[in-house]
Amino acid sequence: MERTLSIIKPDGVQRNLVGTIVGRFESEGFRIAGMKRLWLSKKEAEAFYAMHKDRPFFDSLTSYMSSGPVVVMVLEGPNAIQRNRDIMGDTNPAQAAEGTIRKEYGLDVEKNTVHGSDKPETAAKEIAFFFSELELMR
Ligand code: TYD
Repeated sequence: MERTLSIIKPDGVQRNLVGTIVGRFESEGFRIAGMKRLWLSKKEAEAFYAMHKDRPFFDSLTSYMSSGPVVVMVLEGPNAIQRNRDIMGDTNPAQAAEGTIRKEYGLDVEKNTVHGSDKPETAAKEIAFFFSELELMR
């Protein structure tokens, strides 16, 4: 059993895609171990994406991620990190495979509708960023 952090980004929440995307995760067999809607400040978005702070897109990305509400959730299941990455598709929606969330709903490389942790260490950090252990019990 593995856990990963998923975010429905502002473009997804704004276009009323929350139910569709959560439904997709459920139909793929994930358990939603935790879920909340929140609106990140610019500082919080910068903290979340700190690993990208030297990348040219950092300022634009963190402005975008703090431009409206997001839905964050913990997906649980066998091989959850890689399976979620496969269901999300390539970072750039134009290059994402048919049937992936980003292919279907992503607008561009920044407004690509969903985030998913990329490896176990990142998943643990990202889950702890948003959720307490108490919120994920049972
Ligand atoms: P990255 O970790 O490379 O991709 P992924 O989300 O697929 O793990 O990048 C993190 C986010 O940064 C990405 O979802 C959107 C943003 N981003 C840009 O805005 N422009 C870019 O050129 C890249 C590579 C990423």
